[in-house]
Amino acid sequence: MSPSTQVQIPAVETEFVDIPGTSLKVSRVALGTWAMGGWMWGGTDQGESIATIHAALDQGINLIDTAPIYGFGVSEEIVGTALEGVRTEVVIATKVGLESRDGKVYRNATRERIMFEIDDSLRRLRTDYIDIYQVHWPDPLVPVEETAEAMRSLFEQGKIRAIGVSNFSVAQMERFRKVAPLHVLQPPYNLFERDIEAEILPYCAANQIATFGYGALCRGLLSGRMRPDTKFQGDDLRRIDPKFQPPRFAQYLDAVRQLDELAQRRFHRRVIHLAVRWMLDRGISVALWGGRHPDQVEAALGAAGWSLNATDRELVERIVNAAVIDPVGPEFMAPLQRA
Ligand SMILES: NC(=O)c1ccc[n+]([C@@H]2O[C@H](COP(=O)([O-])OP(=O)(O)OC[C@H]3O[C@@H](n4cnc5c(N)ncnc54)[C@H](OP(=O)(O)O)[C@@H]3O)[C@@H](O)[C@H]2O)c1
Repeated sequence: MSPSTQVQIPAVETEFVDIPGTSLKVSRVALGTWAMGGWMWGGTDQGESIATIHAALDQGINLIDTAPIYGFGVSEEIVGTALEGVRTEVVIATKVGLESRDGKVYRNATRERIMFEIDDSLRRLRTDYIDIYQVHWPDPLVPVEETAEAMRSLFEQGKIRAIGVSNFSVAQMERFRKVAPLHVLQPPYNLFERDIEAEILPYCAANQIATFGYGALCRGLLSGRMRPDTKFQGDDLRRIDPKFQPPRFAQYLDAVRQLDELAQRRFHRRVIHLAVRWMLDRGISVALWGGRHPDQVEAALGAAGWSLNATDRELVERIVNAAVIDPVGPEFMAPLQRA
């Protein structure tokens, strides 16, 4: 356990939430496996990744999120290998609708593409059903209705147990839901990326759509591990992430330092626990925590079994608003539209 996460955590129970309209019950902290794919994260270590998934399961996490694009199949392969023998005890969420050409990633949510991708995902994941299948990004070149109809067919065939979308607006979800049931939305959400609070979270709450907030640690910023001189290797996306560049990086680090002090003083926790607790208490169904080392997921325990009251939440938000005077969102990650 790193010094930034070290605290005495009392014995706690994993928190679970039902996904409305399905029989799925998932842990409120889920393991994201993007970094395990290696691509955009400076490489991967398969053995370490598998051990991380096992460590997550050992502490009660039962939801694992992946995507074909994460390492171009590598992340799904790792998840499939790690879950052999325990498949039925785990909820697998994967995605569809991105393709890569000449080293670039494009959106493609046509019916044809969806029908093509599902069988590859099933093979890599070593399973004959996917619990939650999510359209990774809206594709402006394809009518939402076409995408929704393809997802509905897979649902009716029993190849997928729940339908999700990711990075969709309210208007896009409205159109989607006229054609197919929608059980899950996966939007970006963390203490530094809060755009969904205005319209998207209330819409999902009103329409019984479960929300999986991705980037819970803001690509590691909220872990407490980052320092002004932290360096990233190879193709690690944090080399181009605008939050990790001067002068903004110093603002975000200042917020993290103050949040860590608050977490220790008031809750006997660290910033990593506070950040995840904050988003769970703010009404997201699930926090998607990315990790690729077994000791990283142990810290998830520190987010369970306590809560922030309204005054605490206000204090947290006041620190962020005062320290980050020039905020920037996660838009740099959006994949390209086909020509
Ligand atoms: N639908 C979408 O478009 C979309 C987009 C982004 C993410 N996601 C999903 O959301 C998941 C989570 O997002 P994310 O991977 O961007 O990551 P994140 O949760 O914001 O941050 C993950 C990074 O934080 C660091 N970290 C984690 N635990 C730590 C600990 N205990 N101590 C110190 N550092 C720690 C690790 O960095 P190091 O690896 O450097 O140690 C890790 O890779 C993804 O894996 C993916 O499943 C979906």
